[in-house]
Amino acid sequence: MPKAKVFITHPLYPEARNLLQSCCDCEFWSKPERPARDEFLGRLKDKDGLVCLLTERIAEDTLRAAAKLRIVANVAVGYDNVDVPACTKRGVAVTNTPGVLDETTADFAWVLMMAVARRLVEADQYVRAGSWKGWDFDQFCGTDVWGKTLGIIGFGRIGRAVARRAAGFGMKVIYNSKTRAAEDIEKELRAEYRDLNTLLAEADFVTLHVPLNGDTRQMFDAPKLFRMKPTAFLINTSRGPIVDEAALVHALESKKIAGAGLDVFEQEPFVHPGLKRPNVVLAPHLGSASNETRGRMALVAAQNIVAFFQGQRPPNVLNPEGIKSS
Ligand code: GLV
Repeated sequence: MPKAKVFITHPLYPEARNLLQSCCDCEFWSKPERPARDEFLGRLKDKDGLVCLLTERIAEDTLRAAAKLRIVANVAVGYDNVDVPACTKRGVAVTNTPGVLDETTADFAWVLMMAVARRLVEADQYVRAGSWKGWDFDQFCGTDVWGKTLGIIGFGRIGRAVARRAAGFGMKVIYNSKTRAAEDIEKELRAEYRDLNTLLAEADFVTLHVPLNGDTRQMFDAPKLFRMKPTAFLINTSRGPIVDEAALVHALESKKIAGAGLDVFEQEPFVHPGLKRPNVVLAPHLGSASNETRGRMALVAAQNIVAFFQGQRPPNVLNPEGIKSS
């Protein structure tokens, strides 16, 4: 039987590459820039499988251009770039990479929290610019993180990993999520449930860990931002469109909040000019960007592809019904 033809939109890491090559007829995209849309659709014409990144949009036009496609393995936990119902309708399975990036992404929420509170980026730029003329008592005084109240919105794997880290900082942890966590989890993480408005009124740091979907798109709007304390910071490592960016700029300009640490944006790679302020730390969507974790994510995607073409159910399939009808 001929091997399944798979297009992979990145060279990935050797372990994942080797696994894919052991089972499939692979075509890797290895140019530094992302493939242009036409190029991408053209490559899919004769492919049975696709391994893609969150920058690739998988929608009706993709599926029309890829009549033979049977599986899309998204190398990310978030899959808002994939129209899963459209894939299901056409009998295309979709997989993601949950579980392997929680700790790394949680670390990055803390990176942003610490950096913005303690003004690290401003201070680094000051030192590099040669502006530092000597120690001074009130230079770059920021805000303490330790002992404060951390408000976590979305209490899945990543939200909980963020909560676990708070213990070392002696923080009070409050959270909000669609479903309340079990009592033993709340106890273990010393996290208290709050309704959203109460959380926003109490938290010194508000960190977002919800997936992007119809319910969460633009959920963090002006009224929510304005409920935060004027001394509080917003941290977003989830997805940009969860926050109304124009409202966030307004909240920052009018000092309704103290600052923000942002890893994700409404229209990446565009960054609203109003966000380029000293009290905002900006990162180019780096939440899971450690070599170890990106290697694990690539491997999980490869394992999903291999399982599928070996006739097994991919471990991380999001639409099992997409397999049945294929
Ligand atoms: C990264 O943003 C991911 O969803 O894995």
